[in-house]
Amino acid sequence: MCGIVGYTGNEQAAPILLDGLARLEYRGYDSAGLAVRDGEKLAEVVKATGKLYHLADKTDQGRALPGACGIGHTRWATHGDPSMVNAHPHVSGNCSGSGSGQVESDVVGVHNGIIENFTELKEKLLHHGYVFYSDTDTEVVVKLVDYYYKKYKIGPVDAITRTMVRVRGSYALALMFRDYPGEIFAARKDSPLIIGTAQDASFLASDVPAILKYTRSVYYIGNLQVARVSPGQAKFYDLNGDEVALPLTEITWDAAAAEKGGYEHFMLKEIHEQPAAVRDTLNSLVKEGRVVLSDAGLTDDMIRSLTQIDIVACGSAWHVGMAAQYVLEDLACLPVRVELASEFRYRSVPLTEHTLVVVISQSGETADSLAALRVAKERGALTLAVVNVIGSSIAREADHVLYTLAGPEIAVATTKAYSAQLIAMDALAVQMAWVRGTVSQERYEKMLEELCTIPDKIRRILEEKERLQWFSSKIVNAHDIFFIGRGLDYAISLEGSLKMKEISYIHSEAYAAGELKHGTISLIEHNTLVIGVLTQSLLFEKTVSNMMECKSRGAYLMGVTTNGHFDLEDSADFTVYIPKTDEHFVASLAVVPLQLLGYYTSVSRGLDVDKPRNLAKSVTVE
Ligand code: F6R
Repeated sequence: MCGIVGYTGNEQAAPILLDGLARLEYRGYDSAGLAVRDGEKLAEVVKATGKLYHLADKTDQGRALPGACGIGHTRWATHGDPSMVNAHPHVSGNCSGSGSGQVESDVVGVHNGIIENFTELKEKLLHHGYVFYSDTDTEVVVKLVDYYYKKYKIGPVDAITRTMVRVRGSYALALMFRDYPGEIFAARKDSPLIIGTAQDASFLASDVPAILKYTRSVYYIGNLQVARVSPGQAKFYDLNGDEVALPLTEITWDAAAAEKGGYEHFMLKEIHEQPAAVRDTLNSLVKEGRVVLSDAGLTDDMIRSLTQIDIVACGSAWHVGMAAQYVLEDLACLPVRVELASEFRYRSVPLTEHTLVVVISQSGETADSLAALRVAKERGALTLAVVNVIGSSIAREADHVLYTLAGPEIAVATTKAYSAQLIAMDALAVQMAWVRGTVSQERYEKMLEELCTIPDKIRRILEEKERLQWFSSKIVNAHDIFFIGRGLDYAISLEGSLKMKEISYIHSEAYAAGELKHGTISLIEHNTLVIGVLTQSLLFEKTVSNMMECKSRGAYLMGVTTNGHFDLEDSADFTVYIPKTDEHFVASLAVVPLQLLGYYTSVSRGLDVDKPRNLAKSVTVE
């Protein structure tokens, strides 16, 4: 977690750094800080707790901090509480206080990631006379760099590579050295970091939107590599200190795509971008009436040789896996397991070269998903990443990659990336069914035609959003909400429930409708809201019965079903209809009213929709 930025050039650095941090706040927002150097002078460090605007106020939007070279950080606490003393940047000097002001230090740094052996390293440094002011692992790394810098006196790159050999864990580091004004040194392992160059300036950031306004020319620094960055130039080194050449990549996507575009919140904008995200993803996969998986490197022979699919992911991406399980099993007749990445990585799940492990991730940086991918590769499985962020760690490390084309997703709660993942998995299932001969040519063509109607059907649901807005105002004071469904509807309920609780802070649970009576139904009391998802015709009556069991215990009922099931109105107090589609693909439609309900409930409660408390967009810690 956390976001880091850096700038060196001819302009005043602080306003540029603050602007970059504003675009990275989704990575964490409990405190922030800057370190800026004015020529040869010592670095000036300024920190503030809370959201970024506190830091901006403190520095007069950056204007009060002179200097054309600097680094910045927005934090999501891992080691140490969110306080001034733990906020980054951290310094190598033995200072008292929080390490801010003009600090007598040879090294100043910011860090994203976790140093696992920081206690042991801290012991070593204490032994060598270092004094610590914070509880962070970052202060330990900065001081360790300082230790090697002074001990071997060969320069920053050498000090950093020696440190990299000693630390365990993940990091993206940006460091400034007192003896090297105008330069920033960086290193990464398993945490994202990019370096952009322009005419007379260079930029560092955890993610592309932070620098897109200034440059589109970007280096993706590799794992265990070091960068030496000066205005308009970047050099890269491996762990031996040997220079390595990296390709310069041109970012082609639009900067406006990362802005709010007139919507009140990024989440609402991204909900409305779903037709485009789904269409673009489908268009990249369906060509001339066929799903083409050759870009992802999946051949028909590979698909035929499979005996098992394991889908591994976290959070909403795991919910996509849950939905895809029903579709893959039913269409391609393959056994499918869906695993939480944080569990999978520590289990001894038997895998063979005939197992396809599909890792689904928007960011491509989720630590547990990345670790699960590595475990799957070690155990000899074939791996496929379904990823949104191009060049991300999961995309780079998987055997095969299928990119979703949702564009940058800024709101912490995922919507358009979820929908893009879902459609990609549906297309994959349809193609696997065709290749494995479990569906006829006619059925295959019909399903592809149906998939292509999904974007327009989502658009039609969005046109009805005022009904959800009205209903959300009625449930704004709810204490508990239960989402229930069977089969694919259970997978949809999982996502509906997560959308509700993560942004509205109303307790909510998703339950397989038939399971309620085995314990949870005791929680249902007068006016408890129960939301039933009923899109599977074979299971419709059964879920209605389960909803009625709740109603007879006082529950207030909402139902989401497909057009035509008007009899649901006899049981439910509020019903939402979605257009008809092939029942395998219905999750793409049924989730939309549930996203809108979560969104409007959060807005009605006056909450920070795009940045819910305690969360960060990209979970790069275990
Ligand atoms: C919820 C949400 C999270 C993510 C999860 C995985 O709205 O966004 O549950 O789905 O943290 O993230 P990625 O897909 O980046 O691996």
